[in-house]
Amino acid sequence: MKQDSSTICWSKLGQEWFELAQTGESRIHFIMPYMLERLSDVRGKKVLDLGCGEGGYSRELAKRNADVVAIDCSEASISYSIEQAKANGLSIQHFIRNSNDLYGIDDCTFDIVLCSMMLMDCEDFEGTIREVVRVLKPSGKLFASVLHPCFNGNYNEGIGRQGEGINRQVVVKNYFSPTQWEAPLNNGKTSVIWRHRTLEDYVKVFVKSGLTIIDLNEPQPTKEQAEISTAIAWLQKIPLYLFWELSK
Ligand SMILES: C[S@@+](CC[C@H](N)C(=O)[O-])C[C@H]1O[C@@H](n2cnc3c(N)ncnc32)[C@H](O)[C@@H]1O
Repeated sequence: MKQDSSTICWSKLGQEWFELAQTGESRIHFIMPYMLERLSDVRGKKVLDLGCGEGGYSRELAKRNADVVAIDCSEASISYSIEQAKANGLSIQHFIRNSNDLYGIDDCTFDIVLCSMMLMDCEDFEGTIREVVRVLKPSGKLFASVLHPCFNGNYNEGIGRQGEGINRQVVVKNYFSPTQWEAPLNNGKTSVIWRHRTLEDYVKVFVKSGLTIIDLNEPQPTKEQAEISTAIAWLQKIPLYLFWELSK
């Protein structure tokens, strides 16, 4: 596998990411259910979970009778996802790859490519989208979620936060930079490289690569979801996550 700064830093995270992913309230109660609802009926569909991490989406999609391929750059994540698939009696094919070079995967293979919370992490965004387009069938769909680039960024110099709880505010100091910095994930210890891509950065690459934007969503939590935590309730005011649906 071709290494770059994203594959190197995410490969160091290992176990720490599995724990954060499986205990993160916003991911479990808001981001994941929303994406699964958007993916809708996946029965019999060939789905690529690109940047699969600990494999939670892959397992859920396999349980819903999709034919799933799970790919990540982290060997530890792929080993964990294989173990979990086995423990759950699920058949999921796994590969360790940089998302910008999906060698061994044929052109026009997938009905759906899922990139959950990974397009802001990979170093080579354009190369990743080029590979996504290559492996999608004609009219196949890319479902992607990212940290909302208008409301997330480097806290100190880019897009910060001010105040506490439900009245916390987003303070935009600089929308355009920094474009990358090192810091641990929220509640984490090991540093990863965070990247800030503007809305324009995302759209220009999608369009240049021949994808059509079908839908874009800034979801708000339901009343029940908002009762789970202040962090989720805050999403009723400010959309921290952006969901894309694109077609080849
Ligand atoms: C924030 S995690 C999201 C994991 C999973 N999709 C989820 O939503 O739970 C980002 C994932 O992207 C993977 N990743 C980052 N850069 C990558 C790259 N260049 N190629 C393949 N995977 C990458 C990381 O290893 C990590 O598993």
